[in-house]
Amino acid sequence: MTGDATAQTIRQLLGAEPLRAPVARAMIDALGLPPGSAGLDVGCGIGLQATVLAEAVGPAGRVTGLDIDPGLVAVASARAEAGGAAGAAGGDAAGAAGAVTFRTGDMGALPFADGTFDWAWSLDCAGYPAGDLAGPLAEMARVVRPGGTVAIAGWTSQSLLPGHEALEARLEGTCSAYAPHLAAWPAADHFDRAPDRFREAGLRDVETRAFAGEVRAPLPAGVREALASLVGMLWVEPDGGSPDMVALREVLAGVPGGAPPLLDDPAYHASFACTLTRGTVPGA
Ligand SMILES: C[S@@+](CC[C@H](N)C(=O)[O-])C[C@H]1O[C@@H](n2cnc3c(N)ncnc32)[C@H](O)[C@@H]1O
Repeated sequence: MTGDATAQTIRQLLGAEPLRAPVARAMIDALGLPPGSAGLDVGCGIGLQATVLAEAVGPAGRVTGLDIDPGLVAVASARAEAGGAAGAAGGDAAGAAGAVTFRTGDMGALPFADGTFDWAWSLDCAGYPAGDLAGPLAEMARVVRPGGTVAIAGWTSQSLLPGHEALEARLEGTCSAYAPHLAAWPAADHFDRAPDRFREAGLRDVETRAFAGEVRAPLPAGVREALASLVGMLWVEPDGGSPDMVALREVLAGVPGGAPPLLDDPAYHASFACTLTRGTVPGA
């Protein structure tokens, strides 16, 4: 990635974090990761979930975050060090979480021996946005020991623009997460069909479950900015711009002398969902 692209990813991840964090935490809690276990966070970005995963496995556990972008890996490492130092200064917090380390690598060829980890997790990376799920899934299953867990999660739907159904449909239909599917990908390769890929990969006890997030007015400042950032991140605009983009800006920013910004509407309510698919590596 270029420096600009890395900086944009960091801005977007931090911007959307107030919305995504509670849902990510709920998914991680639902995994019931064993205390003291060792896991891998595939496509860890700036490590927003790696620290939550480390809390989940407790002080005897360890988490390795892997990302293809060295710039993001550097930020993840710095954030973890700063968090560890802050926790140590504050007392209990640092002792409650397992060790976290980060490294650069490609999920298509994970740089680990077979069976290195007790579990592997990926949020909004493996198979997402449109991309090959089977290859990274096979790699995740390879580096997890027999009986261990592979879990892949991704953003799957949203209702962010209530009362503006045409724009909502445009956002939903061309959302950055699945636009490439509309153009060229077979339906069977859609992220929501992940359970089929898990079974084909030989994983056992495959389960899939959606986790919803929601926010309502009055929106705290961080959540308001997160929503605006998120819509910008999901919206796919053709070269040259579109009338829809103008309409979207007016809905979000309001019209002087006309409608106020949607996010200031006292009745505003938004919801969204992530889908988590998990399976067990055979051979235990
Ligand atoms: C939308 S971000 C999600 C980051 C993080 N999981 C989160 O939810 O905060 C997608 C991440 O996948 C990483 N990524 C993309 N392709 C990858 C690959 N082939 N191997 C490893 N990481 C990859 C990107 O660099 C980026 O950090």
